[in-house]
Amino acid sequence: MGKRLLMFPLPFQGHHTPMLQLAEILHSKGFSISIIHTHFNSPNSANHPQFSFYPIPNSLFKDEDCSADHVVEFLNMLNKECVLPFTDLLSQILSENNVATEDEEPVACLITDALWHFTQALADSFKLPRIVLRTSNLASFLSFNSLYLLKEKGYLSAQGSQFEAPPPELSPLKVKDIPLLCVSDPEAAYELVSKLLEKTKASRGVIFNSFEELEPSSLATFRKDISVPIFVVGPFHKQVSASSSSLLAQDSSCISWLNSQSPKSVLYVSFGSIAAVNEAEFVEIAWGLANSKQPFLWAIRPGLVRGHDGPAPLPNGFLDEVADRGLVITWAPQVEVLRHPAIGGFWTHNGWNSTLESISEGIPMFCLPCFADQMANARYVTDLWRVGLRIEDEINRKDIDKAIRRLMLEKEGREIAERVACLKEKADLCIAEGGSSYKSLDNLVAHILSF
Ligand code: UDX
Repeated sequence: MGKRLLMFPLPFQGHHTPMLQLAEILHSKGFSISIIHTHFNSPNSANHPQFSFYPIPNSLFKDEDCSADHVVEFLNMLNKECVLPFTDLLSQILSENNVATEDEEPVACLITDALWHFTQALADSFKLPRIVLRTSNLASFLSFNSLYLLKEKGYLSAQGSQFEAPPPELSPLKVKDIPLLCVSDPEAAYELVSKLLEKTKASRGVIFNSFEELEPSSLATFRKDISVPIFVVGPFHKQVSASSSSLLAQDSSCISWLNSQSPKSVLYVSFGSIAAVNEAEFVEIAWGLANSKQPFLWAIRPGLVRGHDGPAPLPNGFLDEVADRGLVITWAPQVEVLRHPAIGGFWTHNGWNSTLESISEGIPMFCLPCFADQMANARYVTDLWRVGLRIEDEINRKDIDKAIRRLMLEKEGREIAERVACLKEKADLCIAEGGSSYKSLDNLVAHILSF
């Protein structure tokens, strides 16, 4: 008989998607899957008929402010408010499971997002093994792990030019890339990250959506410094069917537009589900794109521009200017877009999912990181893997125009494309039989079955 896994995603696109993808991967290995979720940003169960879904019985979090500027406070609040209803639900699921008929699979473990730190104490009290999914890459997890050291050395209170300094402990990161320094409330973030670390270390294993060949030295450091079993089994999106875990409706009409464009000519522009820019930056982005004269597909989701919950107001004259070469939509089928032969570059905020999707589809990046792990991801993209470029200073249309041309038209862009093609090849190999992620997934399955 198979075993059942209880999986608890964090209700944000960048966390929800990899958890649902991991669920699909583990389902293909014979596990039955139950997804526990909040009402806020709840998954569409119709897209996953093979799973069972358990909403946490409350109606909280419907209208909360979970914008980029308040995300840390929101996460701290979620970890407090969910304790009681989650405990009740878990206890109900486990007691139904105990009295279940013979053909009900026993629950093997709970798999939660690492940011659901409150669940570790609960899992312990139910004697239920807990494994965490950390949806960032290993490198930014390790930068969290160095926080005590960084605080002690004064990096977290750095000022002025100190921001540009590279702390030797975190090479190639600079002080300004440390994830905690780019949030509005560093103390609240410090508390959140400390709990994430403590409870991840108390778990029975941690899963990463990355691959060994991309982060070999981070993996070695993790194994040396942290005693929790680690499973690096990504890229997830290359191991699952196209079933959607998107929380917003994806506009697939852009694919027929892409079909009419020349190979590698289009810059895809999207800043993920939560990053936000102010109005002045938005105007510079729009005119930088227009002035570059390159074809582009731009996904502008509601909320991208601070102060505008609905569609953002494009500058006057912009749509006329780009009518022959640009398409603006609300939300893209991103992986399908990145796989399209017309795409030659991705202007991204460097959320980890977008970064990994771009690398493993072989697409060069133009980086505009906004907060949290995005700064570290962008640094790795530009300085270590050298598969993208970036404007370090405040963005303006002139520099954007220049950067887009460098990426899409010049020798520098072609060299970047060659390097990212090599990484794509490694991503393809690691999930093939005998590859590093393939083997790590087998180890994960054996680990779960040993509980
Ligand atoms: C957040 C954080 O910002 C990120 O730094 C962290 O690593 C994960 O959580 P988000 O900002 O949404 O995520 O970015 P990202 O991690 O890139 O995830 C976005 C997901 O939405 C990707 O899987 C992407 O394919 C999808 N997407 C994005 C779409 O389907 N359509 C779009 O138009 C844009």
